[in-house]
Amino acid sequence: MARRKKIYEGKAKILYEGPEPGTIVQYFKDDATAFNAEKRDVIEGKGVLNNRLSEFFMNGLNAVGVPTHFIRRLNMREQLVRSCEIIPLEVIVRNYAAGSLSKRLGLEEGTQLPRPIVEYCFKDDALGDPLVTEEHIAAFGWASQQDMDDILSLALRVNDFLSGVMLAVGIRLVDFKIEIGRVYEGDFQRLVVADEISPDSCRLWDIETGQKLDKDVFRRDLGNLTDAYSEVARRLGVLPKNASPMSKPTLIN
Ligand code: TMP
Repeated sequence: MARRKKIYEGKAKILYEGPEPGTIVQYFKDDATAFNAEKRDVIEGKGVLNNRLSEFFMNGLNAVGVPTHFIRRLNMREQLVRSCEIIPLEVIVRNYAAGSLSKRLGLEEGTQLPRPIVEYCFKDDALGDPLVTEEHIAAFGWASQQDMDDILSLALRVNDFLSGVMLAVGIRLVDFKIEIGRVYEGDFQRLVVADEISPDSCRLWDIETGQKLDKDVFRRDLGNLTDAYSEVARRLGVLPKNASPMSKPTLIN
């Protein structure tokens, strides 16, 4: 196979030049990091599960008219996506208090919020992705007012979609993070959901038991991360129902 050009390597993914102009191959690694990579491990099977789960969510979003960068899955660990310019923001939507919001405001984890709350963090590992306001975003030109209107609308549409999909399989969508990309079509630009949507970037709690089925299992040493992600995949029909949590992931085509 011809050598591909690596464009970027992040903590959980590698991006390669795609087969056609304007495309990128997104490769999902098994690496897990937390606390700005102070904690790290390799979790066998995580990349395969996240590739498949992100495909599932992005396909669902595309189907309900929420534009994403996703084109198609290529194999167990890779997907073809549209090349886009990532806006340097982590867009977080919260339905229940948890994590940094609970710490910042002294709210008990699991407290239902009066309405979904959208937060923005500046994507900068050296600074630890600090929380920023729309004032910072406008003043430093990271996104225009029109972009911010579109980003808010995309974030809330993703929240409605994901909350419903999760609720249907007995999972509470506590919060999640997305990234937004700009794609250029002639003289026009439009914004799309980019990066990935997976249990790495969401908080997912079992509705009955409160069991955590997301990356907090790794961050807080709560058990086996692959088992948690496999459970999400099984409930969504991405893994066969009878797959043993201990076996390596076997994917349904
Ligand atoms: P937080 O409570 O730590 O701010 O996290 C909010 C949401 O964002 C949670 O679903 C986890 C996700 N997240 C990421 O995807 N990447 C990150 O680097 C961090 C800190 C959180």
